[in-house]
Amino acid sequence: MVEVKPSGKILGARVEELDLSKPLSAEHFALIVRTMATHGVVCFPDQHLAAAALKSFAARFGTLEVNVAGTFQEPDIPEVMILSNIVENGRPIGMADAGQDWHTDMSYSKTIAFANVLYGIHIPRRNGRVLGNTEFLNMVAAYDDLPDDIKSRLKDATATHDFNKFWEKMRREKGSARPPLTEEQRRKKPPVSQPIFLKHPISGRMVLYANPGYAVRIDGMPEHESDELLEFLFQHQLQPKYKYAHEWSENDVLMWDDLVTLHNAVADYGATEHRLIKRCQVMADRVFDPNYLSGALQ
Ligand SMILES: [Fe+2]
Repeated sequence: MVEVKPSGKILGARVEELDLSKPLSAEHFALIVRTMATHGVVCFPDQHLAAAALKSFAARFGTLEVNVAGTFQEPDIPEVMILSNIVENGRPIGMADAGQDWHTDMSYSKTIAFANVLYGIHIPRRNGRVLGNTEFLNMVAAYDDLPDDIKSRLKDATATHDFNKFWEKMRREKGSARPPLTEEQRRKKPPVSQPIFLKHPISGRMVLYANPGYAVRIDGMPEHESDELLEFLFQHQLQPKYKYAHEWSENDVLMWDDLVTLHNAVADYGATEHRLIKRCQVMADRVFDPNYLSGALQ
């Protein structure tokens, strides 16, 4: 019997007794989408998925992204990206420093992300303590708490999001070995404008969609005013009261709604403490369609 167990915290639920390697029924599809809209982050424990099965499961929710970096993909399945610090025969097998600061995936993209699907294969531990948590912030709660004057002032405002902001932050502040983006990579990901507030298509709740990872400027506003307001929004949304941490177990599938949450990959493990996660990224190309939940689009 499939069961949803809310964490009782600001985000998070577990869905138990659902085998994601099997075709997903329309009923369970809707259950997952609704659980993500309500709880933001959903863990499916004890899963056993080949990369192709991970892709098939994720692809039920929307078109899958193939990452712009174009590296560390599962052989013959470019939609499955490998996140890992493991080095084999002198070569890294995955992207070692993905997502190590607060951001929302693909807010820099014309078609934004709807959901992430991560499958934990090797999870590092030290003295019995699990390392490499994935942390989240609840952007429904953050929106609700905003002062009314900010809500009305930014009601229809948009902000420019730039892929290069996060990339350069990783290089400057995190000691990442990433090379600068090439002109061609930057051309492929030009900055885009996104609403600062979004109405969630499933829950109908408003969310604060601007995020410190990629938002660079409130459109049509003088620079100093934009800088000040963005800084206010970033500080507001990063408050610990909105935070939830997922502590990984091997064979967890962790799925989250990128419209509801910001996330951060905690880099508290060393080079010899091996971590291996496989990831698919679901775009929000179908979820805004009113027929999405009925299954008519599948
Ligand atoms: Fe991310």
